[in-house]
Amino acid sequence: MKIFFQEKTKVEIPTQQTNYIVGSDLLAKLDGILTKHNMQYSSFLILSDKKAFSLFGDKIITSLQKLGKPVITSTIVSSEQNKELNKVTEIVKPYFQQGFNRNTCLICLGGGIITDIGGFIGSILLRGIDCVLLPTTLLAQIDAAIGGKTGVNFSMGKNIYKNMLGDFKQPALVISDVDTLTTLPEKEIRNGLGEMVKYWIGWEKPSFDELLTIASSPKSEELAQIINMCQKIKIETIKKDPQDILGEREKLNLGHTIGHSIEGASNGKLSHGEAVSIGLVSAAKLSLWMDMLSDDVFENILKNIISLGLPIQVKDIDKREVLSAMSLDKKGGTFVLIKDFGSLITGVKVEEELVKKVISEVVL
Ligand SMILES: NC(=O)c1ccc[n+]([C@@H]2O[C@H](COP(=O)([O-])OP(=O)(O)OC[C@H]3O[C@@H](n4cnc5c(N)ncnc54)[C@H](O)[C@@H]3O)[C@@H](O)[C@H]2O)c1
Repeated sequence: MKIFFQEKTKVEIPTQQTNYIVGSDLLAKLDGILTKHNMQYSSFLILSDKKAFSLFGDKIITSLQKLGKPVITSTIVSSEQNKELNKVTEIVKPYFQQGFNRNTCLICLGGGIITDIGGFIGSILLRGIDCVLLPTTLLAQIDAAIGGKTGVNFSMGKNIYKNMLGDFKQPALVISDVDTLTTLPEKEIRNGLGEMVKYWIGWEKPSFDELLTIASSPKSEELAQIINMCQKIKIETIKKDPQDILGEREKLNLGHTIGHSIEGASNGKLSHGEAVSIGLVSAAKLSLWMDMLSDDVFENILKNIISLGLPIQVKDIDKREVLSAMSLDKKGGTFVLIKDFGSLITGVKVEEELVKKVISEVVL
């Protein structure tokens, strides 16, 4: 008789801690913040957006030089076209030319494109080195730099399938310096507002008045509080479902099923936040048509999105491309829908006819 053996070992690997700091005049104090958090490295790699580097690069370099360790810089123009796997090898070339090791820290300075690509590179360089994110756009400070989702796009033909290649890599530290937002063009403030509207609908925070405050250039103290509020919503949601498998983290995808597809098909015409704004309107319409949402709440959402100067429709993009991008959606084409302010339903299957109808109403 054959004897059956089985040995079992249960392993629990502790996940990394992340510190999130929001405030003003922080970039120039990077060295002090790293030292205070006992983050000691043998060298630093910087990945930066060219624009952000021209504005804040000196501050970062001067601060890091105080730590007396080598600093190697790689800069790119932030665009969805540059957020591609084949660009990654170009980005890391200066790092390989000058050398790094497992005790090297990757510092990512820029908007969500940089924090997404940088997080991805940080997760694959030597199978993972520490990342410090220094988000410099409103969208990156309230969303992209928070929660450890990293990734690059995959392009086929004219379509960009967003964030299809990536993983989860929690940054070691995220420093959101609100002073960096003063140089953002108006379009980039609206870009961030698009994602903030998502928090307002799904979590009732920030309040609509706070969104209006952001839209009309707030003082940095208020701004830091509102950014911190958004970060906390995202962090608390992620803590409940870090790998995005329980439906909780999926709530953060409100407005993104159609939003991502519209953004991809728009070929850079719409910013992420603008596409999300149209995606939110689409989700609200579907929720109304499927008798989940009242007319009053629907009208309130629509009216306020318009009053923030955000788009609710887009012209001159191909509806078929939007539909084809949706077929490759990571959530398998399911939707997050709205029951009320602060009340969302995840994983909703929507009939194809309704999806086509909503796309024909938002893509003109
Ligand atoms: N990982 C996530 O959870 C997550 C969440 C939301 C969005 N994202 C991703 O984020 C990306 C969009 O990020 P984004 O909206 O920040 O765009 P972005 O990174 O392209 O930055 C927008 C523009 O702002 C410029 N810029 C950056 N900082 C500046 C500053 N301080 N002053 C003046 N100009 C500045 C950049 O040069 C760029 O032209 C998308 O690729 C999206 O998929 C990721």
